[in-house]
Amino acid sequence: MYQRIVVLTGAGISAESGLKTFRAEDGLWEEHRVEDVATPEGYWRNPDLVNRFYNQRWTQLKKDVEPNPAHQALGRLEQEFDGELLLVTQNIDNLHERGGSRRVLHMHGELVKGRCPKSQQTFPLAMPFGPDNLCTCCEPGNVMRPHVVWFGEMPIGLDRIYEALERCDLFISIGTSGTVYPAAGFVEMANHAGAHTLEINLEPSEVHSQFNTHRQGRAGELVPELVEQLLRGELVR
Ligand code: NAD
Ligand code: APR
Repeated sequence: MYQRIVVLTGAGISAESGLKTFRAEDGLWEEHRVEDVATPEGYWRNPDLVNRFYNQRWTQLKKDVEPNPAHQALGRLEQEFDGELLLVTQNIDNLHERGGSRRVLHMHGELVKGRCPKSQQTFPLAMPFGPDNLCTCCEPGNVMRPHVVWFGEMPIGLDRIYEALERCDLFISIGTSGTVYPAAGFVEMANHAGAHTLEINLEPSEVHSQFNTHRQGRAGELVPELVEQLLRGELVR
């Protein structure tokens, strides 16, 4: 039975909820240039374009998107697993929380929060991003930016993630292409800690060869099966 599990999720776990991934044919990066909507330079160059990009994703998240069985299975794992569990997501949606997970580490930030560019304080998003959405921590208020980690910025919570990876006995990666660091390097750290490493993905990721075992297919189907096995105390094959 495993005692210390680290789970990493990427855009693929939310695909079956109807949210676009980044690097599929119809992915987010096919519609937008990363430099324009996912970098600090892009934001300061054209904040309206970036605000529109995130406001559209925020509206979709609020309106017609629900957690899928993969999110719900990880919520159940958190509630029923007796050992230590750290759930790290690269996703900025709130589907893990709505699927029952109460402790989620969003290393790339959260779409449902805004951030004051001066104080770095974060606030639940009450209105779309724009020139009227001002922080309440400074006088006069500063225009809030998306609480999202862009290319070139530091991811959130790395110390806590690395500490967990150095002592984990099971590392599971779900729905990520393994193309962006530092998340793509987590499997190497888990292997170094002697953990068993498992990749669940629709197709082999860029770091596929570094995993001990693989389950290829849809997260909505494979993750509930895996959680059942873990809660029965079975080893992962
Ligand atoms: P990085 O340099 O590690 O990322 C490089 C990867 O980002 C590339 O392999 C590619 O997958 C992607 N990338 C970079 N430029 C691209 C482009 N022009 N077109 C398509 N893909 C491109 O990223 P970084 O600068 O070290 O980012 C720091 C952190 O911010 C990382 O953890 C990254 O994942 C994160 N991030 C988050 C978001 C988000 O939308 N939440 C967007 C970008 C980056
Ligand atoms: N079940 C399992 N895996 C899936 C599913 C599914 N239903 N649908 C798609 N996938 C897989 C794809 O095969 C792909 O490998 O999910 C992966 C999604 O990869 P990306 O689109 O690259 O998303 P992600 O890996 O989360 O991107 C990492 O890059 O742009 C930055 O910060 C951004 O957090 C993002 C990071």
